[in-house]
Amino acid sequence: MDKIIIKGKSSLSGSLNVHGSKNATLPILVSSLLNLNDLILTNFPNVDDTKNMLKLLNSFGVKINKDKNKYIINSFELKNITADYDIVRKMRASILILGPLLSRFGYAKISLPGGCAIGTRPIDIHLEGLSKLGASFKIENGFVIGKVDEFLVGTLIELPFPSVGATENIIMASVLAKGETTIKNAAMEPEIEDLCICLNSMGANIQGFGTSTININGVAKLYKSNHKIVSDRIVAGTYIIAAVMLNSRFEIKNLNPNHLVSLIDTLKIMGANIHIKKSSIIVDKSYKLQSAKITTLPYPGFPTDLQAQIMALMCLVNGNSVIKETIFENRFMHVPELNRLGAKIKVIKDTAYIKGNQTFKAAQVMASDLRASVSLILAGLCAEGETTINRVYHLDRGYEPIEKMLSGLGPDIRREKK
Ligand code: UD1
Repeated sequence: MDKIIIKGKSSLSGSLNVHGSKNATLPILVSSLLNLNDLILTNFPNVDDTKNMLKLLNSFGVKINKDKNKYIINSFELKNITADYDIVRKMRASILILGPLLSRFGYAKISLPGGCAIGTRPIDIHLEGLSKLGASFKIENGFVIGKVDEFLVGTLIELPFPSVGATENIIMASVLAKGETTIKNAAMEPEIEDLCICLNSMGANIQGFGTSTININGVAKLYKSNHKIVSDRIVAGTYIIAAVMLNSRFEIKNLNPNHLVSLIDTLKIMGANIHIKKSSIIVDKSYKLQSAKITTLPYPGFPTDLQAQIMALMCLVNGNSVIKETIFENRFMHVPELNRLGAKIKVIKDTAYIKGNQTFKAAQVMASDLRASVSLILAGLCAEGETTINRVYHLDRGYEPIEKMLSGLGPDIRREKK
């Protein structure tokens, strides 16, 4: 397994471009299953999750062609529609194929999903929503098997919680369903907006995305389309936090600042010096950073996917900080590893108490999930000595190689391949 080795205490200078959003690309790739014509994607993130999703689609017979920076996806001819454990276990987002397969074939068989080990992560909201559209399900030998008797029919679906994946699954199942579907208490994440923009560009009729009520009027078919994937707000946020931690003047480009309001507000309260431009953010040196209290929430609240990164920053600032994690019940696995690097963090139930004014000191650490691994990288960048981060395959699921992104910009960071 690859390792990342960092000689810390450097600074950042210059700028970098944020790549396309993994969490937008995954449902968009899956949505191509609804279309018999080409879907052409740009700003495509080259990360392991998107590569695995391409493999999964390819195992169904989906044709994938790459022309320079364009991915051309065609789902006209599909041969097999069982999603096997080997691919699905690596990526929880595989469950997103349920809606499109039920819509297209009236049948789907998917191994129960894996992905990050951050809690139990059930799929009940997906199944309840899709059942309301007319599907029925059974769980057999580790597979979820879905069936539709005739066709999916639009209806009113009120979600008990604004699940991102369930909202996406229901949207995709409704695009070609008969009649109108309304999703209440829908998730409002920018990645859902991007999926809907892409589906509408293919001929779908979806209104209200980006709000908590989404309306989908079923259409008969979809058409050839081009779509530029939205920038990854979590990757952007990670590099913004890195620049604040390294107290550097640094520009993070190719992002939408409107997608990062809760992070920017928090960093400003902490005393960070941040300038917002149309499609970039400049972090400047700041004098003294203060502690903060945050709670992770569905969008537009503070993203759980930036919780581990801001925790690393909180270890360095003046005063004690508090983070309440309300989205995933087991998302503090980075805490013992940050503590190995010199942090003083205590977790009680869903809340982490972070003692400020600490200095990170190099150690060998182990990445446990995607966002946890990047928080260790951030800590390593600020640590005295040489930090080794093991099991970085988690990192590669969602970040284009960080050592390459940062090369020439200051940090001494390299990968050791195994
Ligand atoms: C997506 C993101 C992930 C992010 C998360 C929350 C992708 C590929 N992943 O994950 O990076 O951290 O949103 O912003 O886009 N839940 C249920 N039943 C369900 C579905 C979800 O109880 O049927 C629970 C989950 O266990 C979790 C919470 O709802 O506690 C949020 O999950 P959800 O919004 O569905 O996240 P994902 O779509 O899995």
